[in-house]
Amino acid sequence: MEFSIKRTSSVQIRSDCAVVGVFEPRKLSAAAATLDRAAKGYLETIVRRGDMDGKAGSTLLLHNVPGVACDRILLVGLGRESEFRDKRYREAIASAMRVLGTTGATEATLHLTELAVPRRDGRWRIAQAVAVAREAIYRFDQMKSKPEGAPAALRRLVLGAGDRGELRRATAGLEQGLAMAHGVSLARDLGNLPANVCTPAYLAEQARELSKRYRMKLTVLEREDMEKLGMGALLSVARGSAQPPKLIVLEYRAGPKPQKPVVLVGKGVTFDTGGISLKPAGEMDEMKFDMCGAASVLGTIKAVAEMKAPINVIGIIPATENMPGGRATKPGDIFTTLSGQTVEVLNTDAEGRLILCDALTYAERYDPAAVIDIATLTGACVIALGHVASGLFANDDALARELLAAGDLAFDRAWHMPLWEDYQEQLKSNFADFANIGGRPAGSVTAACFLERFTRKFKWAHLDIAGTAWKSGKEKGATGRPVPLLTQFLVNRAAKR
Ligand code: BES
Ligand code: MN
Ligand code: ZN
Repeated sequence: MEFSIKRTSSVQIRSDCAVVGVFEPRKLSAAAATLDRAAKGYLETIVRRGDMDGKAGSTLLLHNVPGVACDRILLVGLGRESEFRDKRYREAIASAMRVLGTTGATEATLHLTELAVPRRDGRWRIAQAVAVAREAIYRFDQMKSKPEGAPAALRRLVLGAGDRGELRRATAGLEQGLAMAHGVSLARDLGNLPANVCTPAYLAEQARELSKRYRMKLTVLEREDMEKLGMGALLSVARGSAQPPKLIVLEYRAGPKPQKPVVLVGKGVTFDTGGISLKPAGEMDEMKFDMCGAASVLGTIKAVAEMKAPINVIGIIPATENMPGGRATKPGDIFTTLSGQTVEVLNTDAEGRLILCDALTYAERYDPAAVIDIATLTGACVIALGHVASGLFANDDALARELLAAGDLAFDRAWHMPLWEDYQEQLKSNFADFANIGGRPAGSVTAACFLERFTRKFKWAHLDIAGTAWKSGKEKGATGRPVPLLTQFLVNRAAKR
């Protein structure tokens, strides 16, 4: 789909469908009122009769409205004006996209982007509109033998911007929105691919494609390299698998040379059976999503590279399967991590922290400004925060605040969780320096506490995306989160320095 921006102070532009909002109760938005004047009160009458009361989520499609230059007008309910904020704005655009997908319109002009949203500017409105529209039209059918159903007619979406000053902000929003959306699509595609296709080698291949397209340095460490370095924890997870593990390092350097990089570390378990601590069969297919942290690192780097954001970012992806087998790690086995600390593996299903800890130690060599790891790490995080917020842990409060603010702005939110030393006790081992599990209580916190022991040399944050990276049930599929949060964070940093 093609996106463009138009100054729409004149609503008499021709369009297959003009999309305008109605507030509850029965109040036309500015764009709707302008159309209504041309239509000599046609819309006002519909609203007065009660056929569109402005309730959030409601829509009404009109054909051949007299006096206007568009074939259709789509009225979208916005709810009460006093309650119209980020979420309602996004929902209004999503509702519009749902209806537009069922019409024959090949082009539509979205006037919803001209609505004022408290605390947000025109750039934000356009970027969010692009994000929501792209989310609505996303399909993953590359594994189907033939495409399903007829493709929607809609080809072009014109986004309304206000006056001349707005046009500049809107253009910037379009550029950022598209780059982010492309990053999100990449992350979703990689997440949705089955584990027999999306292997560690496949992730390395995708990183190679990105490195070629955007001229970035790529390094892929093989098993022998990891052995030489002493990455005992990462290797312990890979032991049961026939697929060779990879440690992928992608370097995007568009910032000033002396500027320290932000390092993103993404969990890349391309399938998590649990290993010898085998998971139950029900829904085990969803463990193909256990590389969504890795996918978000690639998606974020794609987004900032496409925007040419002036910042230095390094992506590190430890990639492996977690399988049972004759050579697989057994509960009680002890390994020496790259940091030199020893770990007793009491549960082979707590493998994410094992591959991440070696990658985090490896990040030290890049002298990072900050390290952020992203991982579908714990089922406990889903219990704590559901599918709304990602869990955020950090050893630096300023970094935590920066990430929370970025998530808020991008509408890809996180919630700050504790990392107090009190929880470290739960990782005690009688045989090694510590264990890889801390029991049921506060499972997402003790997982973060495990990682914390490998991050004392830099500013670090950890995002547990187990509840936010994909959806289950009828709508099963990867969400592309937290690419928007991470991209916004990097864009903010690039603008500051
Ligand atoms: N990949 C899982 C986490 C997960 C589970 C994400 C369910 C989404 C839904 C992770 O490797 C895992 O298995 N974690 C265990 C840790 C436990 C053994 C301490 C978990 O959460 O049960
Ligand atoms: Mn696991
Ligand atoms: Zn896992």
